[in-house]
Amino acid sequence: MNTTINIILFGIGNVGSTLIKQVLATNATISLKQGLNLEIPIIANSTTAFFKTNGIKNNWQTDFEIFGFPYKINDIIRYIQKEELGNIIIVDATASRKFVKHYKAFFQQGYHIVTANKIANTLSLDYYNSLRTTILNNWTHFNYETNVGAGLPIIETLRRLSDSGEQIHKIRGVFSGSLSYIFNTFSEKQLLFSEVLQSAQQKGFTEPDIREDLSGKDVARKLLILAREIGLQKELSDIAVESLIPSSLEEIHYLNDFNLKLNELDRYYSDLKVKKSANHVFRYIGELDVLNGTLQTKLVLEPKTSAIGQLRGADAAIEIFSESYKEQPLVIQGAGAGSAVTARGILTDILKIAKQLNTFKLVEA
Ligand SMILES: NC(=O)c1ccc[n+]([C@@H]2O[C@H](COP(=O)([O-])OP(=O)(O)OC[C@H]3O[C@@H](n4cnc5c(N)ncnc54)[C@H](OP(=O)(O)O)[C@@H]3O)[C@@H](O)[C@H]2O)c1
Repeated sequence: MNTTINIILFGIGNVGSTLIKQVLATNATISLKQGLNLEIPIIANSTTAFFKTNGIKNNWQTDFEIFGFPYKINDIIRYIQKEELGNIIIVDATASRKFVKHYKAFFQQGYHIVTANKIANTLSLDYYNSLRTTILNNWTHFNYETNVGAGLPIIETLRRLSDSGEQIHKIRGVFSGSLSYIFNTFSEKQLLFSEVLQSAQQKGFTEPDIREDLSGKDVARKLLILAREIGLQKELSDIAVESLIPSSLEEIHYLNDFNLKLNELDRYYSDLKVKKSANHVFRYIGELDVLNGTLQTKLVLEPKTSAIGQLRGADAAIEIFSESYKEQPLVIQGAGAGSAVTARGILTDILKIAKQLNTFKLVEA
């Protein structure tokens, strides 16, 4: 008999709603091939939840609008208990700091978590380590592949290398889809920097306030997640983050005022471009030098011929140098952002846990 996996989905924006579409579209195949029934009995946004014991169907948006109601987290836990739903996987497709506060309580209930939200993995080391203790003590699973490079298997690859005793020497990569697009385009095309930013905004690659992207903090968070994944006890404050906003524009508070000074930004980047040789391109990278213990994010000139130099569009790429990949790095490259690849990465994380639960059931029987 098939094992039913109950997905409780928080966040039904770009990524969450795409995940629902993918689960509903692939359920029959997954059931046939893997003996797993994926159900989504609860969906919620920041204010409203919708419950359906046997799982939502294609008309979920209408159902959510008509039958959704204001909720508290305890309502969710009570409903799961009342309906005796087992094999619970909480999916966090929010970017909410507030929601992360519930993670420990979920693990203590025996629920597993799959998250696209980077916050839990970038809070203080004390929190990070205590979360791992809670996970272990409750025999639960925590998957977060989409925290770095969306659907690309970066965290899994690093974990496998690290778990097999492989010494990682260095990790460097372009981790941000928006900054990848901005510098891939700026390096190749005769456009002003502000024109490239505008194009990135129009394509939906950037945060509403472009300074979030230009601050380099998102790349720093991803680098921290990778560093911690290979066992380095690092804090966000240990990372030397190079901001892409020239110092003359750093103090500006309001976005409108910043936008009025874009000509200064253009001047700054045009000056940099004059100094660039024809066989190099700009890339904003995160770099973790394990041997020296340094973590930095920075704008570099990269040879056009390297893996990172050859990036196109909004792709991400990571190079892993290690004991076995000393001269030529192991390279993972591909679409590093977008709701379809991110939702697929979440679904892969869900299935990894589901398969373990299924094996456990077979062993118990
Ligand atoms: N898009 C990508 O390419 C990509 C790639 C990798 C990772 N991610 C990550 O995926 C996550 C979701 O991204 P997105 O683009 O789908 O965002 P989004 O479109 O803004 O959707 C966010 C969803 O989260 C809900 N939410 C916010 N706070 C909540 C709370 N406390 N409890 C329950 N739900 C809450 C929002 O509900 P309201 O409408 O009520 O606020 C909304 O439904 C983010 O962490 C993002 O960093 C995205």
